[in-house]
Amino acid sequence: MLSYDSSGLYQAGMLSTDQAPPSGDASIQRAVESLQGRFESGELGFVDTPDTEFEPIEAWAKERLNEQWEAQLVIGIGGSSLGARAVLHSALPSQRDGLDTYFADNLDPESVDRLFSFLDPETTLVVVITKSGTTIETMSQFWIARQWIAEEVGEKRADRHVVAITDPKEGELRKMVDKSGWYDFSIPPNVGGRFSVLTPVGLVPLALAGYPIGELLAGAQAVRDRHASAEAIAKAWGVAAAEHLALADEGVDELVMMTYSDRLRDLVDWFCQLWAESLGKAKNRAGELVHVGITPIKAVGVVDQHSQVQLYMEGPKNKHVSFLEVRNFDRDRIIPDSPPMPEALRHLQGKPLSQIFAAELQGTRGALMEAGRPTSSWIFERVTPRSVGAFLFSWQMITAVTGELLQINAFDQPGVELGKRIAHGLLGRSGHEEFAELARRRSPRPDAGAVQLL
Ligand code: PA5
Repeated sequence: MLSYDSSGLYQAGMLSTDQAPPSGDASIQRAVESLQGRFESGELGFVDTPDTEFEPIEAWAKERLNEQWEAQLVIGIGGSSLGARAVLHSALPSQRDGLDTYFADNLDPESVDRLFSFLDPETTLVVVITKSGTTIETMSQFWIARQWIAEEVGEKRADRHVVAITDPKEGELRKMVDKSGWYDFSIPPNVGGRFSVLTPVGLVPLALAGYPIGELLAGAQAVRDRHASAEAIAKAWGVAAAEHLALADEGVDELVMMTYSDRLRDLVDWFCQLWAESLGKAKNRAGELVHVGITPIKAVGVVDQHSQVQLYMEGPKNKHVSFLEVRNFDRDRIIPDSPPMPEALRHLQGKPLSQIFAAELQGTRGALMEAGRPTSSWIFERVTPRSVGAFLFSWQMITAVTGELLQINAFDQPGVELGKRIAHGLLGRSGHEEFAELARRRSPRPDAGAVQLL
């Protein structure tokens, strides 16, 4: 259906049912026009992020690579972390020949402690990324990192160990940047966290890791520019968005993204956040209760053929499985011809793993289609920075159009506020006492089903 072949990526037909795709639908046209209006007014900046000026970032990163640094510790969470992690893990070793990169997102004290015990503060650059500047998880870890460095190299030198990426004007981190000697980069105010991978949020850590960020942006630009008109946007991403919603209307409200490439595993995590946080909403723009959303689920082929596929084949008919398929792998191994394998497996001998992998994908997809389950495929001719960039931008567009079709705000996340307030209340923030009280009322009790383990 969609052809993104110059960037090495395309999406093959989605519906395996007899249903006609909802192309040409007037609601798609309206959604796309509304989105374009929001692009033109500057309200939504993600559409311009493929044009981010990457040369100054790359030049700055090259200077750092000529200094004493061996590692970077990237502190951020959600949209401030998942994009860089996904892109970096999709890279070949030769495409990440910069600093060793470690991501600190979860607050698990054991994981945090492991990182600080293992890394050397003398040779580690701390990259702190938070648009709001007030995210508990990020700022807590950053505070530990600052102290860790200052103790080793002294307060004065510690400044040159910190790179802060935040809003250009607003927020607590920006206030600190202005009083410090840290390196700093700005996140465009009109680009939200999960849409920010192609801004300094993703590009700075990637450049420090030695990743070719220009190529990543070029892939995103290629698909965006190829589908610049309202008609092209509608045909490419609008139809995909409408198909997801048509399936959801029929009760298929879970989207399994199943990657048959380990290099794309973290890209699925990036997608899951984008899709879940953008589209899972209680109210539409008119303030009516709608409780919409399509639950994203990560799966890995072939591993989950031995874990989840039984459920996808025979369980509730509520899943659409979207495959990430790679046509050409950069590395391969052949099963040796000798000694002979047992008769039942002999046909595998002499075959490359890529061929077996492809057959397993075709087997799973074919079986699901045979069982009447909807499937789609994102096909990477090769996993390259360009095809990854095209994938990132495509999903941002599909998500945005889906939000317009649902008439919700795909760019906020009001549902996470209450949990944050409760945590602040429990930790003693003034003005948050009622939230702490709420948590106490709601804490699980053994007689209400909580299980106390040893
Ligand atoms: O997509 C989003 O907006 C969120 O996932 C944020 O990126 C996440 O909550 C982190 O926010 P911040 O960058 O303000 O620390």
